[in-house]
Amino acid sequence: MKKFLVAMIVMVMIGSFAFAGGSQESSGAAATVVRNADKPVVFYNRQPSDPVSGEIDMDTMNWNDSTFYVGFDAAGGGAVQGQLIVDYLASADPAVVDRNGDGIIGYVLCIGDVGHNDSRARTEGIRKALGTWAGSTDPGVVQEGSANVGGTQMKVVELEGRAMTGTDGSTWNANAATDAMSGWATRFGDQIDMVVSNNDGMAMGCLQASNYPAGVPIFGYDANADAIEAIGQGRLTGTVSQNVDAQATATLQVLRNLLDGLTGEDVWTVGITEADQYGNKISAAMEYLPETKALLAQNTGVNSSNWQSYTEGTRDPGIKQTSAEAKKVLLTVYNSADNFLSSSYLPALRYYAPLLNIELTIVQGDGQNESVCLDRFTNLNNYDGYAINMVRTNSGPDYVEKLRY
Ligand code: BGC
Ligand code: CA
Repeated sequence: MKKFLVAMIVMVMIGSFAFAGGSQESSGAAATVVRNADKPVVFYNRQPSDPVSGEIDMDTMNWNDSTFYVGFDAAGGGAVQGQLIVDYLASADPAVVDRNGDGIIGYVLCIGDVGHNDSRARTEGIRKALGTWAGSTDPGVVQEGSANVGGTQMKVVELEGRAMTGTDGSTWNANAATDAMSGWATRFGDQIDMVVSNNDGMAMGCLQASNYPAGVPIFGYDANADAIEAIGQGRLTGTVSQNVDAQATATLQVLRNLLDGLTGEDVWTVGITEADQYGNKISAAMEYLPETKALLAQNTGVNSSNWQSYTEGTRDPGIKQTSAEAKKVLLTVYNSADNFLSSSYLPALRYYAPLLNIELTIVQGDGQNESVCLDRFTNLNNYDGYAINMVRTNSGPDYVEKLRY
């Protein structure tokens, strides 16, 4: 009995030592809490870059080893949009497209945001395809181009290109496009044979103009649900999908991978171009550019021949529920009124985040004042990672600086 008691006491002591050891270890882990400066940061949709030169802000991109950009192939997308327009013209009837019969295809262009590299890439792609490119994406810097219209080579003229800034200073503004379109329709009349817009929001804005010249072909970009519907109804001629599902998933998956401790190539391949441990893999192709730490989705042209495959609710079946540890991410959106972000990107994020076990806290700005987002880029210790969509593409340092301490 005595022996038994001694054995019991020894066992209890060993147990409590083990327990003390255990608790010491866990308080040790608490002391090595991850500093905000070492947490993952993913910029998405608005690439840290110089608004004038378009040069990528590599200081911001190299903020820490866990800083990445997720977007889409902007230059490739401009080319896809240009090709969509060229293909349309090639199969069109010159007698119908050239409304005033002057042998010239006149078009107007909604640029969006002259300081945004997506906008610039589209202006360049369109102008190069139509031959109006004069070496600059600025409004008005164009030359006379030419295009094959149903077998006839015709001159092409950009009647006007405009940035589309709202009265509140926000960019890519759909109301500004409605106003511009009604002015253009009055000023240029039947010189307008075609309307081209660097996003769907502005294209739909143009169609809102009460004097929109009925039947004039019009092209957008983004493949938002209302634009796809408008293609089905024959109101919109074409758009480009920048594959929002692939981008939203990749933004979350890169964060997930970094938070799960993956390093190197695994960060931009696992769950993206190859299956992760839960069997998740983005179905569409994604490309990684190491020199700019950018993971990019590919673009596809959408028109009356294939719009049905882009209808709302077409989510990626390659992404299923994971049982990964829950993580918290603070995500900013530059403008709550941005058509693409609010109607396409955010719904996609909201769909995929719970599947990847990421709890998003979303902060939305007004598209004009960086401070609206920055002032709410706070309580940073409460989050495991950050996803940033800046108002101005050169504001990267203002965000990462807040993570320094
Ligand atoms: C989209 C635009 C959107 C912009 C916001 C672009 O990629 O095509 O529609 O306004 O992103 O940053
Ligand atoms: Ca004409």
